[in-house]
Amino acid sequence: MFSAVVYSSCTGSCKKYAELVSESLNIPAFELGKAKLCAEGKVLYIGWLFAGKIKGCDKAFDLYNVGAVAQVGMGPVDNNSEKEGRKNNGIDASIPLFCLQGGLNMKKLPLLLRLLMIPVTKSIADKLSKKEELTEQEKATLKMAQTGEGEPASWDVSDVVAWCKAH
Ligand SMILES: Cc1cc2nc3c(=O)[nH]c(=O)nc-3n(C[C@H](O)[C@H](O)[C@H](O)COP(=O)(O)O)c2cc1C
Repeated sequence: MFSAVVYSSCTGSCKKYAELVSESLNIPAFELGKAKLCAEGKVLYIGWLFAGKIKGCDKAFDLYNVGAVAQVGMGPVDNNSEKEGRKNNGIDASIPLFCLQGGLNMKKLPLLLRLLMIPVTKSIADKLSKKEELTEQEKATLKMAQTGEGEPASWDVSDVVAWCKAH
């Protein structure tokens, strides 16, 4: 049984996802490091992607009994996302990894990260604007990359909630 959602969030997307899951499962959501949990309860960890790494993931595994992980990034989720996420973060097949699209808000980022993201968003915008047909998630990513802020195509947590309910 899942007893809590733990998250790490820089600009609010993971916090929002954590709150949505927490409401649906009727369990509390805590920021990473702030939860005092009993050892038996499993935790869903939600962290944001930083160059392919899920922020706080290693620490979450050290501190809690992590039963599932959700990674949140500005990019579109595709058939490779889960495989890449597992490889980049050393998450084996025994732990489910959910891949969710989050938003981008350059204005909320610390200066150093904002500077890091300027060339990244430019290159994403260049690449995506050349594509003829875009999925809803790609459209959302393109808007984020072009304007420096935007929401994901949806905030759908139904798969995560269903899996946590069943386990
Ligand atoms: C320095 C930096 C690196 C990022 N790297 C990735 C990445 O590798 N893949 C991705 O999809 N999104 C990446 N992002 C976008 C964030 O993961 C995305 O904006 C996420 O929604 C942020 O979550 P938060 O609002 O909870 O902080 C990066 C953002 C920053 C600032």
